Amino acid sequence: MNALNQFIPDTEPERQFYFIEKASELIKRQAKENGKPLTYFIQTFGCQMNSRDSEKLAGILEKVGYVPCEEEDKADFVIYNTCSIRENANTRVYGRLGHLNAIKKKRKSLKIALCGCMMQEPDEIEKVRTQFKFVDIVFGTHNIFKLAELIFNSFEAEGTIIDIWKDTDKIVEDIPNVRKYPFKSGVNITFGCNNFCTYCIVPYVRGRERSREPKEIIREVERFVADGVKEVMLLGQNVNSYGKNLDNPITFAELINAVANVEGLERVRFMTPHPKDLSDELIDVIAANKKICRHIHLPLQSGSSRILKAMNRRYTKEGYLALVDKIRTKLPDVALTTDIIVGFPGETEEDFNDTIDVVRKAEFDSAFTFIYSKRIGTPAAVMDNQIPEEVTKERFSRLLAVVNECATKRCGLDRGKTLPVLVEDVNEQNPELLTGRLSNNTLVHFAGSKELIGQIVNVKLNESKGFYYLGEKE
Ligand code: 5AD
Ligand code: SF4
Repeated sequence: MNALNQFIPDTEPERQFYFIEKASELIKRQAKENGKPLTYFIQTFGCQMNSRDSEKLAGILEKVGYVPCEEEDKADFVIYNTCSIRENANTRVYGRLGHLNAIKKKRKSLKIALCGCMMQEPDEIEKVRTQFKFVDIVFGTHNIFKLAELIFNSFEAEGTIIDIWKDTDKIVEDIPNVRKYPFKSGVNITFGCNNFCTYCIVPYVRGRERSREPKEIIREVERFVADGVKEVMLLGQNVNSYGKNLDNPITFAELINAVANVEGLERVRFMTPHPKDLSDELIDVIAANKKICRHIHLPLQSGSSRILKAMNRRYTKEGYLALVDKIRTKLPDVALTTDIIVGFPGETEEDFNDTIDVVRKAEFDSAFTFIYSKRIGTPAAVMDNQIPEEVTKERFSRLLAVVNECATKRCGLDRGKTLPVLVEDVNEQNPELLTGRLSNNTLVHFAGSKELIGQIVNVKLNESKGFYYLGEKE
């Protein structure tokens, strides 16, 4: 250990505060030489979990002195926060890396980092190591909090820095972060997943499930509220299993109730519950608390009990439908959405018809439909009877037609009502309009000035356009 190392704290987050200082000295020097601040661009692939991680990366980057840049091609530091849930997510990243390489050839000072789920796959790391040598920093899902340290090291050393942890039992609190929206934010409650659905790569790339301490979660929400946040979304791969392994166990229902009671907070959402253990207690807490949004995303994956067993989902077709019934009875104003995979190994026409049957009976408000993608390392990848592409594609389009038919029945049910809308943005197509969201997650467009962004306003829902409403502010 050299003399300098003796002063580097070995506890977190103190160690990172040290490296934030050190890296910011380097960045300041560089900016002075360039005559302008250094800039960053983060491209996020994948889910809300990754989006929240990117906010933490942005927080660290801004603390060390980078400023945001809208254009990827002009930034001094580009980070791709990758996703590996389906194969096409991986392919997209490599396509874009080729483009970045061309820029780096002209502008040597460009720094490139790769992180996120794809980087937890050993085959992908090997590919980056051998075919994408121009990448400066590679890290995974468990050590994003270390970004300042990695930046500092990459300024000091030649070649690619690769720092991947296989798993972790650590949760590092108090790392800086910036929010994409001033008025809403994701809040991590659990990291990782222990469910091992047989098609899914998440347990391998996000590691074992860990819950944050409730007091840390409440503290973060209180801080957000003091800073103007109106809505939070509690994030976990399976929120229902929150808190079971804490020293003082607490249920997800108790947590969400405590969050909803934070003074000044207007709305709470959550993503994603697992149907196998969505409790009556949770349904009752939602029913009793209007601050909890009227939207439940309840991934079905398949409607066939046989396929659900092969997927290791641990519920049956009948069990799922009974849960839907209970939710619809106790929470009549809830919008129910889902995820469905078509073409899981061994799926027969009969199995597929069970999926169609559940979709018709559950009458989902909307559904994300996916074609099964083989993920190396998961049990399903080596199962017999992988389904040919043409069969899957044909089933996929049949499913889509039924999903749309059901969504059409459900949407428009609130036409004529006046309901609160959290205003999120100016409408992308028409700058005279604003876009916001109902408690049940449906989009509403209405005329108004952009000062209303971030506020909750009452809007009369005049017209239903399928997946959204046109309305007018009261
Ligand atoms: N192939 C297709 N879809 C998948 N999902 C997860 N893994 C796969 C896979 N290998 C879908 C599931 C999950 C959503 C986030 O992605 O439906 O709920
Ligand atoms: Fe994947 Fe299943 Fe965990 Fe969801 S619950 S992240 S589908 S393993």
